[in-house]
Amino acid sequence: MSSLLVDNIGELVTNVAGTGEGGRLGIRRGAAILVEEGRIAWLGPARYAPAADRRLDAEGAAVLPGFVDSHAHLVFAGDRAAEFAARMAGQPYTGGGIRTTVAATRAASDDVLRATVRRLRTEAMRQGTTTIEIKSGYGLNVTDEARSLRIATEVTEETTFLGAHVVPTEYADRPDDYVGLVCGPMLTAAAPYARWIDVFCERGAFDADHARAILTVGQAAGLGLRLHANQLGPGPGVQLAVELGAASADHCTHLSGADVEALAGSSTVATLLPGAEFSTRSPYPDARRLLDARVTVALATDCNPGSSYTSSMPFCVALAVREMGMTPAEAVWAATAGGARALRRTDVGVLRPGARADLMILDAPSHLHLAYRPGVPLIRQVLHNGVPQCR
Ligand code: NIG
Ligand code: FE
Repeated sequence: MSSLLVDNIGELVTNVAGTGEGGRLGIRRGAAILVEEGRIAWLGPARYAPAADRRLDAEGAAVLPGFVDSHAHLVFAGDRAAEFAARMAGQPYTGGGIRTTVAATRAASDDVLRATVRRLRTEAMRQGTTTIEIKSGYGLNVTDEARSLRIATEVTEETTFLGAHVVPTEYADRPDDYVGLVCGPMLTAAAPYARWIDVFCERGAFDADHARAILTVGQAAGLGLRLHANQLGPGPGVQLAVELGAASADHCTHLSGADVEALAGSSTVATLLPGAEFSTRSPYPDARRLLDARVTVALATDCNPGSSYTSSMPFCVALAVREMGMTPAEAVWAATAGGARALRRTDVGVLRPGARADLMILDAPSHLHLAYRPGVPLIRQVLHNGVPQCR
């Protein structure tokens, strides 16, 4: 068994509240971390560090848990750069372009889809993402939804069945039949490759009754629940997520007071996706309002070719701080521990003995620099399951 000691750490963000400075960030100084078999075997003052086979010198830089990106759509073909350009020239985002990506995805070979998933997974890892959730949702038939999830399982354990993304063109005039397909043969084919089920609950996609039916049958098939909710306008999504005990309600851009109250009294995380508002030139969600109400907030990329073609968690942290009223500490917590809560994981998003050795060394002395130096590649090294990732 080979061991690795990470030492000469400047600021260590543990996310273990009450063990140091920085409140929830649990910041320690002068600490070292011993990694064995992909886990943190020991964490404590460097002067008491056990002997190890190898050493990784952090050179006085900040060390943080790897980012947990709890919302991404990486299985697709083609891009929609022209749609983005049209939006920047004044066109609104409606979600209508999803069908363009569905056509391209259905026509693509497994190898083409696999290459895109791997490219984006690598891109995200280079920016500090050690856990990533990946949704289907651009297949929208039995074969292509199952295929999308099977390819996603090659790079992550956190896979989500999103057959209910939109009603595909061939079912446009019989949406009830499509919901029947999602709840029946499509779920049967997808469930072996999925941990979660998600629905886009929005005007123009699926209403609350359809979403409830799909999530209920998904839960009965053993899948955990998540929901795209209140992205493009007010609606029933957040209340439904809370009613069903979903792990996360994602987007949360248009919330009523009752929505905020419902989230505050629940175990459902509000996952905010500022890349989507950036890329659709829409008003950002009000993270301050949620945090002040004591809602648990996560940040994620929503990486997809339509509404948010970024895999960068540092970019989302910077946006959240500048545009959504979050402090740098709140944004860093939401992008690490918050994402872990949204995936109901206790082994990631935190640095303590027993946790996965998923961490990043910054090219900076403090977590503050992630928002303070936007657009700068500050991730010097990433350990995933204790293994240094090639840069
Ligand atoms: O989360 N809102 C629904 N789904 C994606 C967008 C997908 C697309 O435009 O291709 C989202 O933003
Ligand atoms: Fe999404």
